Amino acid sequence: MVKQQLIKLLKENKGEYISGQKMCKQLNVSRTTVWKHIKELEKEGYEIKAHHKMGYMLISEPDFLTHEEILPYLKTKFIGKNYIHKLNINSTNDLAKEIASTSPNGTVIVAEEQTEGRGRLGRSWFSQKGCGIWMSVILKPDLQPQQAINLTQVSAIAVVKAIEEVCNRETKIKWPNDIILNNKKVCGILTEMSSEIDRINYVVIGIGVNVNCDIFPEELRDKATSLYLEIHSKVDRKKLIGSILNHLEFYYSKYLQKGFDFIRPLSIEKSITIGKEIKVIGLEGVIEGKAITIDSNGSLVVETKEGKRLSIMSGDVSIRGLLDYI
Ligand code: BTN
Repeated sequence: MVKQQLIKLLKENKGEYISGQKMCKQLNVSRTTVWKHIKELEKEGYEIKAHHKMGYMLISEPDFLTHEEILPYLKTKFIGKNYIHKLNINSTNDLAKEIASTSPNGTVIVAEEQTEGRGRLGRSWFSQKGCGIWMSVILKPDLQPQQAINLTQVSAIAVVKAIEEVCNRETKIKWPNDIILNNKKVCGILTEMSSEIDRINYVVIGIGVNVNCDIFPEELRDKATSLYLEIHSKVDRKKLIGSILNHLEFYYSKYLQKGFDFIRPLSIEKSITIGKEIKVIGLEGVIEGKAITIDSNGSLVVETKEGKRLSIMSGDVSIRGLLDYI
């Protein structure tokens, strides 16, 4: 709390000295406490000038997604109240699953870098240091396990809305979990769950947004992009993560109150899949046909060449003419 207030005070006076005395008075702590916190902030990447008579002056803050740095943008009631920030981790989803049973609903884990970032279907997820938003949100909904699948679409809408708000760009959703900008993937969502037969223990929503990445490994270049590469200007990651979490809480709460009917029109409006010739690799095997709509359960309705309509709950979708499916 003192640390958060101290940062706020330093930021309000950025580029100017504030006397130690004024700080102690405003924060109601001793000089030693102020000094200890200043040292801690310096370790975290804040550049602070100290003058024996004039006090402390904030020169710059780190481009890290720490709780203190994103708080000015966070308007949520429960998502992100418990917040874990790591400079480096194997995978935020892995840590989320490790701590989920003892962590509160809405816990957020964010890393600047992942060494073993995971995508769907056992793929790896490129998660370079400081260039993206690599995070996992722990949710504990009172839903049937089969409904958890809808949370991927709820999260996709939250990301699309946040990109619209912060970057003023329209992105599309490749059902159910890819966010597409200019025909390339800018974000992926990995939803994982632990459940009993009729009850969810927890759901982990892993969100990876390529924000300011300027280069991708050779094998990803045709498929992946970043907001920066498409918009040609750097995006404020702090604003964007705040906006994603705000929208996630909004749409998640609406979904719990009103069901998928609330989400469905948006899922359809933002879909890049509907109306396209697609190939789905899923539990049912490989299905080729035209994507018709998203039904009231969140399944993708596909009409095959033989005129058969199938509802697909999950799968890996390729769209003819987009990315690698020709
Ligand atoms: C996909 O499109 O295949 C899903 C990608 C999900 C990536 C995110 S990054 C944060 C979280 N931690 C992980 O290891 N994966 C997810």
